[in-house]
Amino acid sequence: MTFPKGFLWGTATAAHQVEGGNHLNDWWAWEQVPGHIKSGDRSDPACDHYQRFRQDFDLLKALHQNAHRLSIEWSRVEPQPGAFSTIELGHYAEVLRALRERGLEPVVTLHHFTNPTWIAQAGGWESAETAERFARYAERVIAELGSLARYWVTINEPTVIAYQGYIKGDWPPGKHYDLDRVARVLVTLLRGHWLAYERIKSRQPELQLGLAHHLRVFDPARPWMPLDRAVAAVFERIFNGTILKTLGRGRMVFPLTRVDRSRGPRPSQDFIGVNYYTRELVRFNRHYREELFGERVLPAAAPRSDLNWEIYPEGLYRLLRSLRRERLPILVTENGIADAADTMRPAYLRTHLAAVQRAIDAGAAVRGYFHWTCFDNFEWAEGYGAKFGLIASDPATQERRLRPSARLYAEICRTNALPVSVETRRAPLADEEPAGQADRR
Ligand code: FCB
Repeated sequence: MTFPKGFLWGTATAAHQVEGGNHLNDWWAWEQVPGHIKSGDRSDPACDHYQRFRQDFDLLKALHQNAHRLSIEWSRVEPQPGAFSTIELGHYAEVLRALRERGLEPVVTLHHFTNPTWIAQAGGWESAETAERFARYAERVIAELGSLARYWVTINEPTVIAYQGYIKGDWPPGKHYDLDRVARVLVTLLRGHWLAYERIKSRQPELQLGLAHHLRVFDPARPWMPLDRAVAAVFERIFNGTILKTLGRGRMVFPLTRVDRSRGPRPSQDFIGVNYYTRELVRFNRHYREELFGERVLPAAAPRSDLNWEIYPEGLYRLLRSLRRERLPILVTENGIADAADTMRPAYLRTHLAAVQRAIDAGAAVRGYFHWTCFDNFEWAEGYGAKFGLIASDPATQERRLRPSARLYAEICRTNALPVSVETRRAPLADEEPAGQADRR
């Protein structure tokens, strides 16, 4: 059960969730408002990874990972319009060098949910100018750091940005159910991606650029009901299909909204980044007008994470297999589970990686897997309560503590294979760093 030679094995993080001290973006402002974040948590200090990145990377290397996905915080690099911080660009150069020195291949995201305060004040992604501003930032980062990483993700999960911020409204900017606005936001995000792609590729064509797509499986709750099947198909088209289709055709394709036919480069992805967590069962409900008549339900007996997300490894197989038609290499840029007790994560890892393997056998060009995530971190509106880490991390003490699944994953990374029968009990790793030390700043 081995994976292809040179397979990338790593974990993924986002700057705002791990660094601490990001006070110049829209999320930090959002966190200050009571009720926005569970338990009133704030993203500072998170994992204090801004200071501790070297020790943290030592640990990932000791766990046999050979790659790492992280993001650059736009608000650090460009705290004021057009004023780029050489200090912060230098910091990220250090971070990328630290990865390379440890044999960890960097995959770098340019935008992972947070916007500089000045961008948010200028209308965020509702403003058409944000696309151009994002591209200018991307170009500058690549000019400084392009030689230090080969894989770049322009934008993380455009559909999640649009859904959480402009439909559900529980993330900044907290707007509700406005489909025209959602379309505008998605169009601007995609224009930003297109502009960044064109400019970066014209400077450094050897770089591999992609977008991290949040893909879910949508199944009818009652498969025998035509209306359930119809709403599930609509969800599938809108959430999964729109962006892939737009990028594939080089033309905006938005169903159910006013048409925008602007064009972009083709191709505009060198690989497809897939973030996969769960599936949703959809049932027709005529009272759910604002949700396109789709009520999302959980099957009564389904195994679920701490966040109540269904554990459904088959979905990853189905998605990866369906992506064969895009004829592009694939990176699983995120996949993981909130599981504080670590009782479900070992099986989650095994079954999802078996799904990746089956998809590879079926012809999907999967080149790497990045587990979300290495350290428990600031999980957006959930605060610190949702524990996605292979390694427990406590914001109060900054202690890192390996969960059993960290060792299981290390064994998978080391052998480039999925063990047939899995042993997750404590087995010393040859080059393991002591992980338990509180290391206060
Ligand atoms: C993804 C996000 C990531 C994290 C995981 C749990 O949608 O990209 O930042 O929040 O979910």
